[in-house]
Amino acid sequence: MKKQRLISIILCVVLAIVFTGCGKEIATNNKAKTIADASSKAGKSIDYMALVNKTHALPDDWEENLETTHFTNSVGDDVEVEKKAYDAYLKLKADLEKEKIYVDLDSACRSVEDQERIMESFTKDFGADYAKKTVAKPGYSEHHTGLALDLYLIVDGKDIVENDEMIKYTDIWEKIHSKLADYGFILRYLDGKEHITGYGYEPWHIRYIDDTKVAKLINDKGLTFEGYLKTAIDKPVKIDLGKSEQLTKEDLNDSVVQIKCQFAAWDGFELKSITYAGDEASNDEAQANKLNPDGKYTQIALFKMNFRTSKNVDGTGLEANKDYKDYEWWLGKTIKDGWGVITPSLK
Ligand code: DAL
Ligand code: ZN
Repeated sequence: MKKQRLISIILCVVLAIVFTGCGKEIATNNKAKTIADASSKAGKSIDYMALVNKTHALPDDWEENLETTHFTNSVGDDVEVEKKAYDAYLKLKADLEKEKIYVDLDSACRSVEDQERIMESFTKDFGADYAKKTVAKPGYSEHHTGLALDLYLIVDGKDIVENDEMIKYTDIWEKIHSKLADYGFILRYLDGKEHITGYGYEPWHIRYIDDTKVAKLINDKGLTFEGYLKTAIDKPVKIDLGKSEQLTKEDLNDSVVQIKCQFAAWDGFELKSITYAGDEASNDEAQANKLNPDGKYTQIALFKMNFRTSKNVDGTGLEANKDYKDYEWWLGKTIKDGWGVITPSLK
């Protein structure tokens, strides 16, 4: 009898420990809104510069290399985000909060099935034409990557989640957009660039690219991701950097990227070649006095470009459908920002 009582007591104690432990776990889970790693995948990592758009589907092996995190947003939805993008987003969010701007995530990583449901509901509610301009075809949404994040705003404690409501907060978006690059994000669907991106303006849709320097370049120059990839990386053009006693290889390469990115803002122009004009030409005193009167730049350098304009030359001061040879590009280097284009100014 005594022995049986002892066994019962031991059993009770063990069960109490187990249940107390579980109770704590549940309480912690209920409290913690933001932590729950979904998966941990060994092996290759994803390409943070991958292009997914109307003509580029999600790469086949994407999901097997994707690591994500889940959290619950302020309206109670489960949101899944690529891990590094999520960490960067938390930093961006904290920075914005210092300025009393409050954001949350409406949607990030979406499966093809999720996208199908969204497409169906948009088509039903707003018609096929509007749906196509607003929602990507399943399999072709940047949201499949886990790197595209749709923000929503919390203004005066109220969740603003509807697109047509959110878009009205232009000042808030401007502040948000000005901070994106610091955390490796770019704005993906720019106003006035629908003909390149394929979608209307979406101030809430940001894309993580894991490179603050490139993000800054893209954001500062107002480039689309398509424009950056096509001009800065893909396009084979003749580059002749010659020899220089005053510029390092890195100086020359950085300058070329700056030129290409600025050039990408000229939609439809064809870049043919970029040449470093040489140290002597770059040391032109008259130009230095004109371009660098207050010594803002620690160095200036002259490059020459051959290119062809397209039919749209608005705001460039150039003639349509014309070949330009040895067109001058002056670049300057500052301690803070490195190399940048001084002229031609495209702004
Ligand atoms: N709204 C963007 C284009 C998407 O559906 O992926
Ligand atoms: Zn989106």
